[in-house]
Amino acid sequence: MKDLIMATTNAGKFAELKPLLAEHFKEICSLADFPETLQVVEDSPHYAQNAMKKARKVGGHFGMPALADDSGLEVAALGGRPGIRSSRYGRNDEERMERLLHELDGIPWDGRGAKFKAYVALYLPEKDRCYVFYGELKGFIGFEQHGSHGFGYDPVFYSPELGKYLAEISTDEKNKFSHRGRAIALLKTFVETL
Ligand code: IMP
Repeated sequence: MKDLIMATTNAGKFAELKPLLAEHFKEICSLADFPETLQVVEDSPHYAQNAMKKARKVGGHFGMPALADDSGLEVAALGGRPGIRSSRYGRNDEERMERLLHELDGIPWDGRGAKFKAYVALYLPEKDRCYVFYGELKGFIGFEQHGSHGFGYDPVFYSPELGKYLAEISTDEKNKFSHRGRAIALLKTFVETL
């Protein structure tokens, strides 16, 4: 398969995903490469449905395979928040992390368990079909920010597997075991069967 468009304008996500897919797709672009704005309203309470909606709309519009992801951070002590609203939990990453830390104020380490979830949808226009792949990463929300890599909630997400916060590792390292990296690994296995 030659080309792929990623249904995102999020530079952090694009930078993470692109190297993961380079082996399987020659030319990879994102919505940020096109002047027109294609609005996709993520109105489902389900990540998978939002991912499929984005992939279908973008792939249909450009007439090429499209990949979309919908992801979020779920904190058990907050009843799963921010969850599907992870990208809208504040006006920017800083505000979103501050809000999260504030809501977890007074909660000890054991009660700060969290999980990143990623649903990645691949739309293939020639088949008019969408395929969805899932990955997750378990960890804890720290008491303050650590590190300067990555994006989103990376500075407050501690991975026991790694013994580090996600913002303390490189994109390459993160891709090996992250929720998105795991979903993409499944997607690549699928693409190899096509
Ligand atoms: P969406 O999938 O674009 O709706 O956004 C999901 C949101 O979840 C992002 O904007 C981030 O705030 C957060 N998120 C998802 N994956 C990650 C990650 O790997 N690191 C940090 N934050 C993430």
